[in-house]
Amino acid sequence: MSQYVGYTLLLYSAAVVTTRLFAFEYISLADICATVVSVVAVATLAFQDTNEALSVPISGLNLLAMYLVWKHHVRGTEPRKEDMRGMVCIITGCNSGIGVETARNLAKMGAQVIMACRNMKSGEAVRLDILNSTGNSNVQLLELDLGDFDSVRSFVAHVEGFYSKVDVLINNAGVMTPSRGESKQGIEMMMQTNFLAPFLLTLLLVPMLHKSKCARIVMVSSTMHRFTCLQHGGFDFDDMFSKSDFGMFKSYGQSKLAIELFKFEFNRRLREAGSHIVINSLNPGSIKTSISKDWHWILANGHELIQPLLKTPVSGAYTTTYVATNKSLRSTSGKWFENSKIVQQTTKASDPQDAKRLFDLAEKLVNFEIVFNQNHIK
Ligand SMILES: NC(=O)c1ccc[n+]([C@@H]2O[C@H](COP(=O)([O-])OP(=O)(O)OC[C@H]3O[C@@H](n4cnc5c(N)ncnc54)[C@H](OP(=O)(O)O)[C@@H]3O)[C@@H](O)[C@H]2O)c1
Repeated sequence: MSQYVGYTLLLYSAAVVTTRLFAFEYISLADICATVVSVVAVATLAFQDTNEALSVPISGLNLLAMYLVWKHHVRGTEPRKEDMRGMVCIITGCNSGIGVETARNLAKMGAQVIMACRNMKSGEAVRLDILNSTGNSNVQLLELDLGDFDSVRSFVAHVEGFYSKVDVLINNAGVMTPSRGESKQGIEMMMQTNFLAPFLLTLLLVPMLHKSKCARIVMVSSTMHRFTCLQHGGFDFDDMFSKSDFGMFKSYGQSKLAIELFKFEFNRRLREAGSHIVINSLNPGSIKTSISKDWHWILANGHELIQPLLKTPVSGAYTTTYVATNKSLRSTSGKWFENSKIVQQTTKASDPQDAKRLFDLAEKLVNFEIVFNQNHIK
């Protein structure tokens, strides 16, 4: 009997680790050790002669190993509840998925939350739900369509008109589309929504972030940028908008690689200018959300099928909440986080030449150039 339980546990941990490997996520030595322990435990159970006395501790070991893999990759670590009262936090794309839970976490911590959404109807429903579940009435909904640079500019004008500062900007909104689309400005949709519009939003909000005592920019990225690095050896400047070679994973990964290069270069410029603003990026994990709503049915059903191996939107919001609020990270900048831990970034995602080239190019594409002056330095 314990053999079958053992096999099941082993299969589960192996499936979790395999899914993470396919998602290009960081697998720690502890995860590998836990899976090896599972294999050894199952093998021992399979070959021993029905020695029940021995099978109990071995099954216990197997259970512990599986629990560690599940805890690390599926459940994650719940962030500490910080005191965010008086903090103005903007989060984009929080009418669905992990953005909802991130906004809820910030509201629970007492922050003044600005929900920046394009779908005002579902945004309002989420806002009311957050109000009811947290008792925080300081949750506002503002319209922002990242598919249109004009909307980004109007959003920032609104924020400047109604708020005195911004403490936290979470660029969470993102899309992963199976076919190529273009924005109002004629830019490939994933590059526009995932990178260029958040790039413009961030630069335009620098004066407001500067007014905060401890400003943070959090970029919700993805490990899929590593896929693009592997496939193309880095950012594909010749086909930035996937005109000649579009692929859902390739083009999505390219837009997330752009985020990584932006973070690298912007962090460098902020430090050089003596600014106190910090910028970090993260992988939220693999989560079942509506990101897969437009995928091919085989992929979408596959995503559905592996749900027990994925994080929930609640646990998917842990790393973002941690990076946005944890007091110990006040002056941490330019880092990459997975499962609420700093992980070494790949070389191509922190290539200084590519990062500078892309930053300069993005400034031209959004028609806005940031010039740091004495007003940006504390
Ligand atoms: N789920 C995962 O496994 C996973 C893994 C790695 C990274 N991520 C990243 O995590 C972030 C959140 O994704 P999710 O999984 O929570 O997916 P989701 O449920 O689809 O949420 C995406 C959010 O982005 C918003 N959005 C899309 N296009 C927008 C636009 N033009 N303007 C304003 N908002 C827009 C969506 O609003 P609408 O309802 O209006 O479309 C939605 O609120 C994304 O950046 C994604 O790339 C997710």
